[in-house]
Amino acid sequence: MLCELNASDGMDIFEMLKDIPADENGFMNVAHAITFDQFPDYLTRQREVANGINLDGKYVPQTTYWLTVGGRLVGMGKLRHYLNDNLRISGGHIGYAIRPSERGKGYGTIILKELLKKAKAKGISEVLLTVNEDNTPSRKVIEVNNGLLEAAVNGTCRYWVKL
Ligand SMILES: CC(C)(COP(=O)(O)OP(=O)(O)OC[C@H]1O[C@@H](n2cnc3c(N)ncnc32)[C@H](O)[C@@H]1OP(=O)(O)O)[C@@H](O)C(=O)NCCC(=O)NCCS
Repeated sequence: MLCELNASDGMDIFEMLKDIPADENGFMNVAHAITFDQFPDYLTRQREVANGINLDGKYVPQTTYWLTVGGRLVGMGKLRHYLNDNLRISGGHIGYAIRPSERGKGYGTIILKELLKKAKAKGISEVLLTVNEDNTPSRKVIEVNNGLLEAAVNGTCRYWVKL
C-alpha cells in the first residue's frame, strides 16, 4: 500500500529514512542525516513541495510516498508531477528506494507499479525513468513494469512507460 507523506508521520517513518542512504544510484534521501527534532520541518517542507509552494526555479512539484507491505514500512517513492529540462536529462518522473533489509523480495517491482498508478491518476500518460546503466535491480524493476528503453546516454538509461 502506498501512503502519501503526511505532516503527522512518526518515528517509524523517521527510522526508515535513516536506513535509506542519502544518495544511492542517484536516488536522493535528504532526510537520511536529519535529527528527530528536524523531522517535522522535513515533513512540512515535503508537503509544500508536493503542493508547489515556495519552489525555486529548477524544481517542480513532487509528492513523496511510503510503501507498506503487511504492515511493515519497506520503501519510499517520489513522483514529479511534470518534467522540466533537468528532469528530462536526469531524474525523470519517478524515483524509489527500498530499505536495504527489505531488498530482493519483489518490493521494488511493487513500488514502481503503485507509483505508476499514482502517475496515471495525475493525468501523466507517459512516464520517464532514468537509471544508471549498471543498476541491474532497478532496470529489472522498470522492465517488468513495461518500461521501454529509449536510449543509454553517458551511462544513463532512459526508459518510458506508457500508461
Ligand atoms: C532498485 C531497488 C529499488 C530494487 O528493489 P528490490 O526490492 O530489491 O527489487 P526487487 O526485489 O523487485 O528485484 C528486482 C529485480 O532485481 C533483481 N535483483 C535484486 N538484487 C539484485 C542484484 N544485486 N543484482 C542483480 N539483480 C538483482 C531481482 O532478482 C529482481 O529480478 P527478477 O524479477 O528477475 O527476479 C533497490 O535495490 C534500491 O532501493 N536501490 C537503491 C536505490 C535505487 O537504486 N533506486 C533506483 C534509482 S533509478
